[in-house]
Amino acid sequence: MTGPKVFIVIVWILKGAVSNQWEIKMPQEIDVISGFCVQIPCTFEIPDSFTKYLNKSVEAVWKKTDASLGSTVFSSKSVASVLKGSVTGNLLSKNCTTVFQNFPAGSNDTYFFRLQGPEPLIYTFLQGVNINVHADLLAPMLSPHIDVLEVSEGKNVTLTCSTVLSCPSRQPVMHWSVTLGGKIDPTIQVDEFGQTLLVSSQMFNASPLNDGLKVSCFLVYSQDIRRPIETSITLRVLYTPQNTIALANPSGPLYEGNVVTLSCQSDANPAVKRYEWFKETGNGELVLKAQKQTLTMTVSSNVLGLYVCKANNIHGDDQSTAVTVELKGCQCTIAPYIMCGVLTGFLILITVVDLVKYKSLLKRLKWVEDLRGPMAYATLNRTNDSSVYNEIQITANRTEEDYVNKN
Ligand SMILES: *[C@@H]1O[C@H](CO)[C@@H](O)[C@H](O)[C@H]1NC(C)=O
Ligand SMILES: *[C@@H]1O[C@H](CO)[C@@H](O)[C@H](O)[C@H]1NC(C)=O
Ligand SMILES: *[C@@H]1O[C@H](CO)[C@@H](O)[C@H](O)[C@H]1NC(C)=O
Ligand SMILES: *[C@@H]1O[C@H](CO)[C@@H](O)[C@H](O)[C@H]1NC(C)=O
Repeated sequence: MTGPKVFIVIVWILKGAVSNQWEIKMPQEIDVISGFCVQIPCTFEIPDSFTKYLNKSVEAVWKKTDASLGSTVFSSKSVASVLKGSVTGNLLSKNCTTVFQNFPAGSNDTYFFRLQGPEPLIYTFLQGVNINVHADLLAPMLSPHIDVLEVSEGKNVTLTCSTVLSCPSRQPVMHWSVTLGGKIDPTIQVDEFGQTLLVSSQMFNASPLNDGLKVSCFLVYSQDIRRPIETSITLRVLYTPQNTIALANPSGPLYEGNVVTLSCQSDANPAVKRYEWFKETGNGELVLKAQKQTLTMTVSSNVLGLYVCKANNIHGDDQSTAVTVELKGCQCTIAPYIMCGVLTGFLILITVVDLVKYKSLLKRLKWVEDLRGPMAYATLNRTNDSSVYNEIQITANRTEEDYVNKN
């Protein structure tokens, strides 16, 4: 019968008695970055009857894969161990905390702690620790552990970033991409298994301004050439409609018969579910006119007035300021007047031109009559001499006054 089996029987016999059990406390799992060190927090209990054998000659051993059949990878008494490291805990106070240096890649396994003598204190604890070796840096954990955080406007949000410091000598710096409210500087916390964690939180009040914002937590390892490693969360802030505005197109006073389109715009998350148009009555009451985003109307006296729109989603609603549908100062269109004016002007112009023409025609007739005196007729009739005609032609070129004066 081997040592451990004897002790298992003893444990079975002494079951239930205080401090009479072989017990070990360490994390079930540790994530390690290859090449980094790894600290295995570890404490144990042994039956009281064995305490007297727990002295400085006790050898601390780590085995892998299997508690009884597994091979030894570390011994505190051997310099030729597979894994290099040291037991940093004080075995005499039942502290088996061990640090392995440069933990090699491909060493994923379950590791078991063993107390090796002096006789009869020889025992391999049955509970092991799974060590997962990662080639890359480990991203921090962000809580809540989701990609998109949906939160209602005004709610307090706490984001917590943490990372296990599995290698105490390679402590990263933790920082946030944005700080939205009160930030708690990174602190060191120790969990129930003795693992140390670097933790930083920030608390803020969800605002519509934060909607769509990506918040990242970074880890920067100073002695590492690799890029900082991050974990992000995107905020989706749900809010009631806001910045609701009513617009008229065309804007400003209109003429009767014009078509005006009122449109409502609003910002909401989730998007606006329903738009409503109301007309203000004289006594300030609102009368529902339409349940759609735009309202198209032909301007007439019963359409004139103040209009407001309401935007609504599951979180509530918001009302716009009023938009006015009003007439231009003159309650008629200007086109007929322009046409009328143009026509009148045209008529006046024609009349003036005709008058001028008539006057000059009269004058012309007058002087032709003057020229055709009875004498002249006789003279002209009597002679066929072209020179006389020529003379008349020249005379005709004279001004009216010449004749007036001659007479
Ligand atoms: C440890 O205890 C064992 C058994 O009682 C004893 O033989 C040994 O000398 C002790 N060693 C030391 C360093 O006290
Ligand atoms: C065990 O030893 C380690 C290393 O010295 C120490 O950090 C840890 O606090 C000790 N644990 C307990 C429970 O005393
Ligand atoms: C070691 O464990 C980690 C985490 O479970 C895994 O990602 C990786 O592939 C494992 N490596 C080997 C060689 O099994
Ligand atoms: C949110 O936090 C602030 C201060 O951090 C506090 O005054 C307020 O009462 C909290 N609101 C809720 C709803 O918890």
